[in-house]
Amino acid sequence: MLDFSIRLATKAGDYLKDNLEGEITIEHKGRIDLVTNMDRLSQERIVSEIERAYPDHGILAEEGFSKKGTSAFTWVIDPIDGTNNFIHRIPFFCVAVAVLKDGEPLVGVCRNPVSDETFWAQAGRGAFKNGAPIRVSQTRRMIDSLIATGFPYDHDDMASLLGRFERVLRKARGIRRMGSAALDLCMVASGSLDGFWEQGLKPWDMAAGVVILREAGGAVTCLDGSPFDLERGDIVASNARVHEELQGCMRDDR
Ligand code: IPD
Ligand code: CA
Ligand code: CA
Repeated sequence: MLDFSIRLATKAGDYLKDNLEGEITIEHKGRIDLVTNMDRLSQERIVSEIERAYPDHGILAEEGFSKKGTSAFTWVIDPIDGTNNFIHRIPFFCVAVAVLKDGEPLVGVCRNPVSDETFWAQAGRGAFKNGAPIRVSQTRRMIDSLIATGFPYDHDDMASLLGRFERVLRKARGIRRMGSAALDLCMVASGSLDGFWEQGLKPWDMAAGVVILREAGGAVTCLDGSPFDLERGDIVASNARVHEELQGCMRDDR
């Protein structure tokens, strides 16, 4: 399944890269939540290949495809993570493919076709970028940390969103908002970033990156510090060493 996932993400990524300069059709799923013809085409290709290879597996894919399987395995697909970047031709987006076993992330692959970087991991077997092992950073203090975040499409919780942003900004060396949660997690896994947090995410934004980060020695929890839960939609991810300090910034009473 890992090799198959790498092939799937690579093929879908190449297709996106080949069409990046072509005509992109944009539809609105919400006020600022967009989907393009390329998200849909990328997803159709990925889903049909999984159905052919693993007919008894479940599939959950962002652009409106979900199927319950009869086995323990479920594929979780984000056909383009970073759709806004894709639309604006900012080369920071990926195809994210994950496999869950009994609901727990087992395999994760994120492919950025423009930078030609593929991150992958399988639970218990280490994390890799283009075949070389990756590890989280050694940074111990927030003041030496570069932290990424993202903003949800739904702005209902603006006060706590900005509160968290301010508390991290006051403690960290810097904050980045790059536009692909899956790649943000991979960058924590490979040590470029020291941490990441976001609220309002979906399983397909996180599943692949979480396997990769855990296998690279990182830590993930929910915003309140409780064990990570793919269904809850909020995440604090780090190199483990700055986790407590970063997670502390998530508390509204700070
Ligand atoms: C989005 C990206 C972004 C994050 C959003 C996600 P999409 O996914 O991961 O970085 O801030 O919350 O929804 O819509 O590009 O697949
Ligand atoms: Ca996404
Ligand atoms: Ca997407």
